[in-house]
Amino acid sequence: MFEIKAKDMRGRVGVLKTKHGNVKTPALMPVIHPRKQAIDVKKYGADIVITNAYLIYKDDDLKQKAIDEGLHKLINFDGPIMTDSGSFQLSVYGDVDITNEEVIKFQDLIKSDIGTSLDIPTAPFVDRQKAEEDLKITLERAKEAVKIKKENDIGMLLNSVVQGSTFMDLRQKCAAELSQLDADLYPIGAVVPLMESYHYKELVDVVMNSMMCLPDNTPRHLMGAGHPMIFALAVAMGCDLFDSAAYILYAEDDRLLSTRGTFKLENLQEMPCSCEVCSKYTPDDLRAMPKEKRRDLIAQHNLHVSFAELRLIRQAIYEGSLMELVEERCRAHPALLDGVRQLANYSEDMEKYDPRSKKSAFFYTGPESLGRSEVLRHQRKLLEMPKKRDLVILPPSRKPYSKFISGHLGEFYIYGAEQEFDMENTDFMVLDVPFGLIPLEIDELYPLSQSAAPRIRDVDSTEFITNFMSDFIENYEQVLIHSKVIKDLDIGLYNKSIESDEIKYVRDDLKKIKAIADYQFGVGAGEALFKGNIKIEKSKKTGKIRHIYDGKVLIVNMRASDSYLVLSKEGARRLHKALPYPKNRVVVNEDSEPFALEGKSVFSKFVIECDENIRTRDEVLIVNEADELLAYGKSLLSAVEINNFQTGQAIKTRKGFKK
Ligand code: GUN
Ligand code: ZN
Repeated sequence: MFEIKAKDMRGRVGVLKTKHGNVKTPALMPVIHPRKQAIDVKKYGADIVITNAYLIYKDDDLKQKAIDEGLHKLINFDGPIMTDSGSFQLSVYGDVDITNEEVIKFQDLIKSDIGTSLDIPTAPFVDRQKAEEDLKITLERAKEAVKIKKENDIGMLLNSVVQGSTFMDLRQKCAAELSQLDADLYPIGAVVPLMESYHYKELVDVVMNSMMCLPDNTPRHLMGAGHPMIFALAVAMGCDLFDSAAYILYAEDDRLLSTRGTFKLENLQEMPCSCEVCSKYTPDDLRAMPKEKRRDLIAQHNLHVSFAELRLIRQAIYEGSLMELVEERCRAHPALLDGVRQLANYSEDMEKYDPRSKKSAFFYTGPESLGRSEVLRHQRKLLEMPKKRDLVILPPSRKPYSKFISGHLGEFYIYGAEQEFDMENTDFMVLDVPFGLIPLEIDELYPLSQSAAPRIRDVDSTEFITNFMSDFIENYEQVLIHSKVIKDLDIGLYNKSIESDEIKYVRDDLKKIKAIADYQFGVGAGEALFKGNIKIEKSKKTGKIRHIYDGKVLIVNMRASDSYLVLSKEGARRLHKALPYPKNRVVVNEDSEPFALEGKSVFSKFVIECDENIRTRDEVLIVNEADELLAYGKSLLSAVEINNFQTGQAIKTRKGFKK
């Protein structure tokens, strides 16, 4: 019932399928009041709405009508409807007069598309005992709900809400236990107080700790999140659904939502956007209106900006620029900046999800960008690469650096043992923000060249790359640091300078493709792939490497967009022989073996095991349990997702090895 179409960070564009139609996610579900709804939210972009089953249950008229005619008639909405269970009322009034079983059955009876069990929204910062007691009940009720659904053959989709207050181990425990159930959607609950009090740092902790223990192939809903300024950050963490009464509550209070925060009508000199309302009326017009009309118009504006933001977010996911959007949005408020800074503490986890390459370039928008998973990924990879005896560190040029750096290089400062320069024994790297050191051979790989940072550096990033360099050069005998690098970093450590005609860089295509292969597939891949009578064919137009042959046999192609190598049959064979199991492999079960051999795509559920380093868009080998090569292809998912998903394609197979 949930299909993922595109991914960036932990964010996804997906389709949620319900009996009343499909919903494109990330989606916002406006809260519909069953009695006093004035706005036709569908007209303003809502594909799905949420309403409160408990309020209907408590009102005899509404209840009867809902039972007789169904929920969709009752609230006059023919698309998918999610219902909440009264948990919110429970958290406000301390009690509700409905049981978990009753509310599940009632939601199904009135034909809700997605129902919710009666979880206990434990407030943030309560004492531990309270959080544990509440959580016990929440978990019992979630289990009971699933049981009721099964026993009564209920077709309604089911929400199992993650609670646990601000205790991260409890959030994890709750999410992990709920994952064992057959629930359909996983909302993250009791976050409204965090958002209302601008505790975005804690919000990030709560969401990430929940998210890390939830299945990847089900939608997650950030309950009660309705302010558009939080959407991008929440989506980057993996949230697919939002619900909001904010559009109407803020409107009742004469407040206009925007991605930059909230505007009070009383302070407005100018209308803040270009929606129908903002184009047609002035702030004075609105102020002069009767309360109800004004409220409805402001609510329209609020819905407009909320849906516009979600469209922008989905577009950013398609492009691979979600984090740039998050960084931009989080500059709207220092507390949001805390959120994005806190997110950097999860880059280890984020890296497991983030696609290897993206359509759009990596933009350094400020020190927060240093915490991105792309930076971690590159630096980690670099530490795995074999090192030569000496290292030359160069200042950045235009990108790709390797295209613009060659020949004699100028004045250097020596660090370490002084010895004669020998190009064969020397690594050449550029020191730049934000990736630190970039070997010239691999600099065309995404995102190393497909990135941009301001030319005027900030203190944080300068310190960051300096620290990285200081650690990295430890393992070299002699390090030659270009005088411009010393000047840019303002470091006076290296006081012996030399200018030598000897120190030069000569481009070498064979070295380059071997280094790319080692970086992409693992050390040793380059030697194994590119042996024999290697011929490198370049594009006549761009001069870039396109195809690499051994004699007449194609080994790999080089993808123009990100410079990663794409395997041919021979390339796959060579890689398979060279790399030890399970490196770069996806292991499929016996049943799917004939399909793989024929070149059919691999579905997640047939994968027994895979290399944990596989990321979206990687080239992978498809093997059986005996490690016989069946096929090869491009991964559509990362390793954690392949292991987690029970439906859908994992690998788009390029070719099978059927005899
Ligand atoms: N609405 C806002 N927060 C919550 C929550 O924690 N649980 C439920 N069921 N509904 C909510
Ligand atoms: Zn507007």
